[in-house]
Amino acid sequence: MGRAFVYVILGGGVAAGYTAHEFVKRGVEHGELCIISEEPVAPYERPALSKGYLLPEDPARLPAFHCCVGTNEERLTPKWYKEHGIELVLGTRVKSADVRRKTLLTATGETITYKILLVATGARALKLEEFGVKGSDAESVCYLRDLADANRLVNVMQSSSGGNAVVIGGGYIGMECAASLVINKINVTMVFPEAHCMARLFTPKIASYYEEYYQAKGVKFVKGTVLTSFDFDSNQKITAVNLRDGTKLPADMVIVGIGIRPNTSLFEGQLTLEKGGIKVNGRMQSSNSSVYAVGDVATFPVKISGETRRLEHVDSARKSARHAVAAIMEPEKTTDFDYLPFFYSRVFALSWQFYGDSTGDVIHFGDFLGNSFGAYWVNNGHVVGSFLEGGTKEEYEAIAKITRLKPEIEDLTDLETQGLRFALTL
Ligand code: FDA
Ligand code: NAD
Repeated sequence: MGRAFVYVILGGGVAAGYTAHEFVKRGVEHGELCIISEEPVAPYERPALSKGYLLPEDPARLPAFHCCVGTNEERLTPKWYKEHGIELVLGTRVKSADVRRKTLLTATGETITYKILLVATGARALKLEEFGVKGSDAESVCYLRDLADANRLVNVMQSSSGGNAVVIGGGYIGMECAASLVINKINVTMVFPEAHCMARLFTPKIASYYEEYYQAKGVKFVKGTVLTSFDFDSNQKITAVNLRDGTKLPADMVIVGIGIRPNTSLFEGQLTLEKGGIKVNGRMQSSNSSVYAVGDVATFPVKISGETRRLEHVDSARKSARHAVAAIMEPEKTTDFDYLPFFYSRVFALSWQFYGDSTGDVIHFGDFLGNSFGAYWVNNGHVVGSFLEGGTKEEYEAIAKITRLKPEIEDLTDLETQGLRFALTL
């Protein structure tokens, strides 16, 4: 049994949705394009899962957040794919790929061939077992990567109302889920190995602002340690978590956000991998010219910093997807991907954006006791990164612009004095 397509998108997440949208914008023919996804639903905006999806009142539910509502564009429902002659092969895992023969074999035993393959397999959540901790398949332990995880988390939260949650990990999932737990009236303790939250990006000063804000909402922090084991009752229900520093925390539920691993295994030994992802060039093309990679799974050259990076963020997934399609459909008109890294988060009444690279000296500015402050990162005499909490649309645009322009900085003290004004007046 087999089917053949000109273009196959492997994966059905954010990058897949934006890839399909771009193909349609650029005039793909009916029957040429197919999406194969392990998930049972059409591509959706994954960031909703740790935000609107977890609200106790009026939560976001599909079909409201199918791609491409995240960029205020049309919503690609299953009907949209049908109308544009795109085959959606959902609930189907690809179990092997042969890039020499240009074939994919699904878990249902079907062989699908392509002329051009776009790998958009994203990533999977790391499991506690990978760090030597057993028991994370227990009913009240939640990870959060896909819709099935989110539904499970909602059920566990509902049955833990008024109880205690332990959040393992102080990164994006930890911070966003902790806020949602508070909103759902669950007592939260966050546990992570670093000295402060969001250690990959925040400076200690920025982190302390968010930690104090969370503490005022009742969240407790246990830092510098990790979980070592769970305690179970006679019904195999978790009652507590044990930490390496000897602390025992009572727990009705646990959320684990300890990072991700890109889904590259289908291509190991077939495509060049780098920094954990599939290495691509500025056209998102891998070491095999018929295979492109986009989104979380792609390691691509970031022109502005001159480095290759794998980014785990939605804006990069959307833009790399669109870029790959441009490079495929209009190669002569498409130059190399020129991407400015962009990360953001929204929790409680807070909202921050970050652009560029967090390397070099950090210059903080603004009112850390109020609700708008930020930072510039200056490396080799140039602004390379900017962060802003509580900005307006114009202010966020200004810090994005300044980060792209990389102005030379002669006097760090002057930059600190000018603060946000520096970006607004450049
Ligand atoms: P994505 O993970 O979206 O999709 C991968 C797809 O491939 C899935 O459908 C998967 O099932 C499928 N797949 C994998 N292997 C397969 C196989 N062998 N066969 C078939 N299908 C397969 N970013 C940000 O900038 N701001 C934010 O606020 C958030 N918020 C956020 C919340 C939560 C809960 C998560 C989990 C992530 C975020 N992110 C984020 C990150 C952002 O969602 C992420 O960068 C994008 O979803 C990446 O898009 P991809 O399409 O690359 O992977
Ligand atoms: P992360 O990389 O942001 O954070 C991982 C955290 O795990 C670290 O901060 C650390 O505190 C912790 N950690 C690492 N090893 C540990 C251990 N052994 N025990 C306990 N803690 C440990 O990853 P995440 O929070 O799991 O997020 C997963 C993915 O989802 C990321 O790709 C992220 O970009 C994405 N995401 C993004 C957003 C956003 O951009 N707003 C929101 C949610 C999720």
